[in-house]
Amino acid sequence: ADRSQPLEINIGEQAAKFKIGLYFATWWALNVVFNIYNKKVLNAFPYPWLTSTLSLAAGSLIMLISWATRVAEAPKVNLDFWKALFPVAVAHTIGHVAATVSMSKVAVSFTHIIKSGEPAFSVLVSKLLLGEAFPMQVYLSLIPIIGGCALAAVTELNFNMIGFMGAMISNVAFVFRNIFSKKGMKGMSVSGMNYYACLSILSLLLLTPFAIAVEGPTMWAAGWQTAVSQIGPNFVWWVVAQSVFYHLYNQVSYMSLDQISPLTFSVGNTMKRISVIVSSIIIFNTPIQPNNALGAAIAILGTFLYSQAKQ
Ligand code: 3PG
Repeated sequence: ADRSQPLEINIGEQAAKFKIGLYFATWWALNVVFNIYNKKVLNAFPYPWLTSTLSLAAGSLIMLISWATRVAEAPKVNLDFWKALFPVAVAHTIGHVAATVSMSKVAVSFTHIIKSGEPAFSVLVSKLLLGEAFPMQVYLSLIPIIGGCALAAVTELNFNMIGFMGAMISNVAFVFRNIFSKKGMKGMSVSGMNYYACLSILSLLLLTPFAIAVEGPTMWAAGWQTAVSQIGPNFVWWVVAQSVFYHLYNQVSYMSLDQISPLTFSVGNTMKRISVIVSSIIIFNTPIQPNNALGAAIAILGTFLYSQAKQ
């Protein structure tokens, strides 16, 4: 009888691990599908401000319907919640548009190689703006991250400055998003799923006027006609897929954030990028030079060293 308790704990631990493994696998799979459809859409219809708006709109719609039909319980939030969410939404919107603009200009793999440098930005922002200190190993791990990204960038065959800067801006914006959301979530009892839903709705409201100003309905209508004439009527389903899968992967990632530490999350995020980089290179037949691949591998290795050093 004495043995039953450790066994139960063991089964509980195994079940928890299995659950997190399942979240991770779902998150990566949904993310790969999003990245592929997003790039297919952008190749035929190069309007990243509209596609990023549609991604947020799809998520907002899915969640509003889920709340109205009670498939999901609506969160009980007040004005303070929305105020705390505001800076998170600004950062989320900037990071999202910047990454999508980047992917409209360069290979998906290149955007994600640069985005695998996000931990380096996290350290720099925390150190320079918040005065946080880190152990020496953390700073040392930034050398392969930054060096690897730089090597990948200078050897990228289809380098484009807007594509590069978009991914860099996305890195900075997402570091701020993570800092603000950590502050904003304190003391709030909103689930990961509903937190992300509110984030989508607020980001959609913020992004829509800018998308209209930067691109606008005239460009969209002309571009849509061209895309449909090239791809056929199925083009609309590509747009639906990129929008819905964007919401789903983010929702699952926020749900897993509920269960794991931010550090485990960032390691999971880097591993997610490996699956996106590899699958998009295969699907889009992206030309890769050996030094380019080496740079990506060094940057990703650096991220693992970083996570070890932070532990
Ligand atoms: C976006 O469109 O927001 C980016 O693809 C997001 O990138 P991430 O969720 O992989 O950081």
